[in-house]
Amino acid sequence: MRSHYCGQINSAHIGQEVELCGWVHRRRDHGGVIFIDLRDREGLVQVVYDPDLPEVFGLAEQVRNEFVLRIKGRVRPRPEGTVNKDLPTGEIEILGLELEVLNKADTPPFQLDEHENVSEEIRLRYRYVDLRRPEMLEKIRIRAKVTQILRRFLDDSGFLDIETPMLTKATPEGARDYLVPSRTHPGQFFALPQSPQLFKQLLMMAGMDRYYQIVRCFRDEDLRADRQPEFTQLDIETAFLNEDEIMQLNEEMIRQLFKAILDVDLPDPFPRMTYAEAMDRYGSDRPDLRIPLELVDLQDLMASVEFKVFSGPAKDPKGRVAALRVPGGNTLSRKQIDEYTKYVGIYGAKGLAYIKVNEKAKGVEGLQSPILKFLPDEVVSAILDRTEADDGDLIFFGADKASVVNESLGALRVRLGQDLDLMDGEWKPVWVVDFPMFEWDDQHNRWTPLHHPFTSPKLDQVDLLDSDPGACDSRAYDMVMNGVELGGGSIRIHQQEVQQKIFKLLEIGEEEAEEKFGFLLSALKFGCPPHGGLAFGLDRLVMLLTGSASIRDVMAFPKTQTAACPLTSAPSEVAAEQLRELSIRVRKPASEETSA
Ligand code: AMO
Ligand code: AMP
Repeated sequence: MRSHYCGQINSAHIGQEVELCGWVHRRRDHGGVIFIDLRDREGLVQVVYDPDLPEVFGLAEQVRNEFVLRIKGRVRPRPEGTVNKDLPTGEIEILGLELEVLNKADTPPFQLDEHENVSEEIRLRYRYVDLRRPEMLEKIRIRAKVTQILRRFLDDSGFLDIETPMLTKATPEGARDYLVPSRTHPGQFFALPQSPQLFKQLLMMAGMDRYYQIVRCFRDEDLRADRQPEFTQLDIETAFLNEDEIMQLNEEMIRQLFKAILDVDLPDPFPRMTYAEAMDRYGSDRPDLRIPLELVDLQDLMASVEFKVFSGPAKDPKGRVAALRVPGGNTLSRKQIDEYTKYVGIYGAKGLAYIKVNEKAKGVEGLQSPILKFLPDEVVSAILDRTEADDGDLIFFGADKASVVNESLGALRVRLGQDLDLMDGEWKPVWVVDFPMFEWDDQHNRWTPLHHPFTSPKLDQVDLLDSDPGACDSRAYDMVMNGVELGGGSIRIHQQEVQQKIFKLLEIGEEEAEEKFGFLLSALKFGCPPHGGLAFGLDRLVMLLTGSASIRDVMAFPKTQTAACPLTSAPSEVAAEQLRELSIRVRKPASEETSA
């Protein structure tokens, strides 16, 4: 039907007859001449219809935006003064000789170049129109290129691409499961995988040695800008490699990817940072290292002050008092500070004390702060020293449970970095290592795994599992880039006794362990090699590479924040007959039951 893509025509084709297919991007009438910008996957080209050819001219008059056309025409240079340097096809135009309307189109729900004025709901409902926007096409195209490069790297490195089941048993990755009822086993359910974690371990036990899969994962959890209920992992597992070897291999893959897509040279090797250092200095286990601000501990200075807001947490072993110096921050207005105070409130902070440093040489006189009256001069002076504050700076303070201070000041640090444009460098990858095995769950009064329960403890710390589980570190590693957790993994437990011990520590009883993970425990007995791997969030990787603000922009058909699809109206009710077959009776949501 066609000889070229619209976007590929250039001066080299001048004089040639070409046949193109595409959508009418815009039609303009100009003093008896009709211009049609014809668009396809590769770009736009201008087609001109002249009244000298009355038959095709008549057809051209009837076309409207988004009609699908096949045209034939002759490529010619644009008249002087009408060359469009911004358009790859801007030096030429096509004199239209034939025109066939392949299909008409209703007025589109929104003009492609006015997408910013429509709600995301509308964009998602008419996703096939939204995806026609060159910007969206480009993201989807980059995504395809990313998977191609990753596949090639892994294929060349001896990895086997192996599929694992979608209808399976729950895999604990910390979210709720999506369940699928079984018709043949009434009252029983499959779970869609939160990740292929256990199957990839079984593949190592089966001797596959190196596995990868670009695989859909399902997690019913609260959604955010970088989370979707179904998302894609690049999932990897290897046998007989230690954590250093796994990290080296994977960062090499990411280096090659960034070189190929963005022509960026990432550092070799990636820097590494322990979890403890990341929390201390950045209040986060996924620090954005482009932002030069750091948290500074003030625990010792604050323990003896009278100001209870600070001394309380300073004396509490689970508390933290920390400062965040903002260079040049004393220009922040009262209103801005109030805004930041509200912002840290989201993370549970009860306030946001600050000191503005106007003129350090004048001592306390040269400072401005609502908390000076509560702090002895020598403490204030020690704070200035420790934070290395200078004239013109502002120091923020957080005092609370360590988790609240870390989350709130950690988030504030990132927000300030963006608001005040403090970014230093473009790409800052880091491996975060030496994670604790467990964290204490106050609500349920028990240990929970920081990663998943199949993560191996550090070999020299296995004894701590009995004596002090909280102090035991795991063999896990996360790859973080610009504050985004791109991927994470670990060396796994390959000994049955250790796995059973971990289940016990997590208060998964013997019966429950057998019921949920019996197949794993049994497999561990039949010759399980030492193994480990990791999984990248493919969507997040593409988000970073395309500079997208939302994960939804790099997925062809994403779901809304409430985990629904406006295009197909999923999820939806099903026929009574279908439910009967599945032995399912639907209970009305509690609110409807009480009002009935
Ligand atoms: P984890 O749970 O850390 O590890 O997931 C790996 C990576 O997947 C991405 N990710 C998500 N992306 C979009 N939407 C979501 N809801 C979502 N949840 C996770 C993140 C994350 O780093 N089985 C282990 C990996 C392993 O140990 O090998 C796992 O799933 O980028
Ligand atoms: P107050 O005594 O509550 O008026 O607080 C005095 C100052 O300390 C105000 O600027 C508050 O924003 C700040 N503040 C209160 N609680 C905290 C906290 N937990 N961490 C940091 N600053 C706080």
